[in-house]
Amino acid sequence: EIDCWLDCDPGHDDSLAILLASHCKKIKLIGISTVGGNQTIEKTTRNALISMNLYGLIRTKPTNLDNDLDINFDEELKYSNCLTHGGLEFPLVQGSSRPLLRPAVNCQEIHGDSGLNTHVKIELPKIPDYAINYVENLNAKSAHFTRVMYDAIRVNSKPVTVIATGPLTNIALLLINFPDISKNIEKIVMMGGAMGIGNTGPVAEFNIQVDPESAHYVFESDIPIYMVPLEVTHLALVTPQVIESIRSLSTNLSFILVELLLYFQSTYKTLFFMDYPPLHDPCAVAYIIDPTLFEHRLMRVDVEIHSHLSYGQTVCDFYNMSNKKKNVHVCMKMDVERFWNLLIEAIKSANEV
Ligand code: BDR
Ligand code: CA
Repeated sequence: EIDCWLDCDPGHDDSLAILLASHCKKIKLIGISTVGGNQTIEKTTRNALISMNLYGLIRTKPTNLDNDLDINFDEELKYSNCLTHGGLEFPLVQGSSRPLLRPAVNCQEIHGDSGLNTHVKIELPKIPDYAINYVENLNAKSAHFTRVMYDAIRVNSKPVTVIATGPLTNIALLLINFPDISKNIEKIVMMGGAMGIGNTGPVAEFNIQVDPESAHYVFESDIPIYMVPLEVTHLALVTPQVIESIRSLSTNLSFILVELLLYFQSTYKTLFFMDYPPLHDPCAVAYIIDPTLFEHRLMRVDVEIHSHLSYGQTVCDFYNMSNKKKNVHVCMKMDVERFWNLLIEAIKSANEV
């Protein structure tokens, strides 16, 4: 098992990254942090909680408690007092609302005003109050969210792999506030960047463009970094066959996932004229589960932070022309069929919860 912390901004594809990371045998999630990106920080945190609830990662009250005959007895309160992390399998902490130096940017055009929009209204399972209270309290009581991340990673019995599927603000702040944590981080596997064409600028990818200064800081950190760029994630297209294989599982969860993917598909079509949307974020999780799915190459990658035209570009020095120290393992290829197999297996496992 590989112990991982997931930093994300759900977001349709981030939500599926949570599903894959929490329902594969290889990964043990020790915590999730949210960051402002696809939507505001309040919405990405809410969406992380919705996702955890949907994927069976919040303990619910055992039904036998309902049989208690004492009408003055507050079952839910009593039950919640016995729970760690408000019933969540692991802590969920709300991170930074905005980038290090720049104003906040959201991606409403792709993920909708909630960050997890669907075209048809779907009934989501109710999130227990004790779980909502826990997340709000953790937020209000912690001196700073990086303290929660620091404590969890530092006391973990093994070095932790950090998965990042949003802007790198939280990770940069963690390293700035607690530089000694780098010895407890085995590697950072992040979805972001591009070797060539971008998706929010001609040469810039969203996660990096939103907060290039944080990406620059993280790329300078000396922690091994594995970058899964657009060239790879654009291989993971949600085709009608993929949708069908999820739909055919015929569970409540599979229908909700299909609706989320259909919304994602329609906004991608409007914005990028692509028939099928790329499911970016789970690709980074897949790298941790099975690196043999990928080909990668260690090279110098610098983040452009000065230019007006190309800020957020990940400048990949493929031929080592700069002669600078190589700092990022850039994934270049992925076995798409095996990627989808991993995801479908994870959905099946989440169905069983
Ligand atoms: C990245 O941007 C976000 O909209 C997605 O969640 C993904 O992390 C792709 O550029
Ligand atoms: Ca994301």
